[in-house]
Amino acid sequence: MRYNVAIVGATGMVGRKFLKVLEERRLPIDKYYLFASKNSAGKTVEFMGKTHTVIELTRENISGKNLHYALFSAGGAVSKEFAPVFAQNGITVIDNSSCWRMDPAVPLVVPEVNPKDLDWHKGIVANPNCSTIQAVVALAPLHKKFKLKRVVYSTYQAVSGAGQQGYEDLAEGIKGNPPKKFPKPIFGDVIPQIDVFCPDGYTKEEHKMIDETRKIMGLPDLKVTATTVRVPVFHGHSESINAEFKRPVTVESMREVLSKAPGVVLRDDPDSGVYPLPIEAEDHDEVYVGRVRVDDSVKYGANLWVVADNIRKGAATNAVQILQLLIKKAKKSGR
Ligand SMILES: NC(=O)c1ccc[n+]([C@@H]2O[C@H](COP(=O)([O-])OP(=O)(O)OC[C@H]3O[C@@H](n4cnc5c(N)ncnc54)[C@H](OP(=O)(O)O)[C@@H]3O)[C@@H](O)[C@H]2O)c1
Repeated sequence: MRYNVAIVGATGMVGRKFLKVLEERRLPIDKYYLFASKNSAGKTVEFMGKTHTVIELTRENISGKNLHYALFSAGGAVSKEFAPVFAQNGITVIDNSSCWRMDPAVPLVVPEVNPKDLDWHKGIVANPNCSTIQAVVALAPLHKKFKLKRVVYSTYQAVSGAGQQGYEDLAEGIKGNPPKKFPKPIFGDVIPQIDVFCPDGYTKEEHKMIDETRKIMGLPDLKVTATTVRVPVFHGHSESINAEFKRPVTVESMREVLSKAPGVVLRDDPDSGVYPLPIEAEDHDEVYVGRVRVDDSVKYGANLWVVADNIRKGAATNAVQILQLLIKKAKKSGR
C-alpha cells in the first residue's frame, strides 16, 4: 500500500523543512500535494525530482485527490478551519499549530516519549511546540529513572521559531532596518517575550511549555514554570533546564541515562570545551544535551543545557516521525 499526502503551508519555514525531511526519509508515498495560500498558488516547487505546482487551500481543491494524510503548518486559523474538514474526509492530520494541542480528544505526540498516544487519535494528531519537544526528549528518560518533581525552563529561542517574518526581522535588523514581526528590534538584543502576554504575566509560549510538558509526559500535576526569551540566533533553540527529582541523581548516572536515550546526543565534556551550540545543531534531527550538573540547592536537583534545531526536531522532523509511525500502524493493520 502506498499513500497520498497533503502538505499544507508547503511554502513556509516549517513547510519547506517538511519537504527536505521527506526527501531524506523516503516514505512509501505515492503522491504529494503542496498547498498554501492564494498568494503562492501556481508557484512551482522542485520536490522529489518533480516539479510541483502549489495549490490554493480550499475545500474544493482537497477533493478528488484520494488523500490519506496531511501535514499542516499554515498557522492556527487554517488548522482550526481545515483540520476538521480533512479529518471528516478520512484524512489524518498532523498539525503543527497550537490550535488542537490542548484539546483532550487530540493526542499531543513526541515519538521518543509518548508514541502510544497515537492509538487513540480521531483524525487529528497535534505536534507540540518546538521548545517543548526538545525539552521532553531530554527529560522523559531522566523521569523514567529518577522521577520528576519540578521543572524550571529558561529558553533562548531562535528567530526562525517565529517563521519567515521572524527570520527576516533579524536579517533586516543587521542592516539597520526596524522589525516587522517582533515587538522590539532583535539584532544585538534579547527579548523576554515570545507570543502575547496572558493576564497572569506569563506569555502564551510559557504557558504552552508548561501545559504541553504535562500532557506529553502524562504528568498533569507536575510542577513546571518557564521564562521564554527570543535571542538573535537564526536557527536552533537553547534551553537551560533546572529539574528536581524524587530520587538521587549524580552527574554520572544522568549522563549514563542520557547517553542511551532515544533522539538524544550527549555532548558533555566541559574540560575539553564540549557542550551543545545551536549553530552545530542546525539541520540535525537530534536533541543535544550538555552541561549536566547536580543542583545541590534542593535535595535531588539537576541542571541541563538542551539544544535542537527548532524547525527540524521542533517541527518538521517530529511531524514526519509521527507520519512514519502512523503509516507503520496502518500497514500492520492492512490499511
Ligand atoms: N517556525 C517554527 O519553529 C515552528 C515550530 C513549530 C510550529 N510552528 C507552527 O507552524 C506553523 C507555520 O509556521 P512557519 O514558521 O512555517 O510560518 P511561515 O514561514 O510564516 O509559513 C506559513 C505558511 O502557511 C501558509 N498559509 C498562510 N495562510 C494560509 C492560508 N489561508 N491557506 C493556506 N496556507 C496558508 C503560507 O503560505 P503562503 O506562502 O502562500 O503565504 C506558508 O506556506 C505555525 O502554526 C507555527 O506556529 C512553527
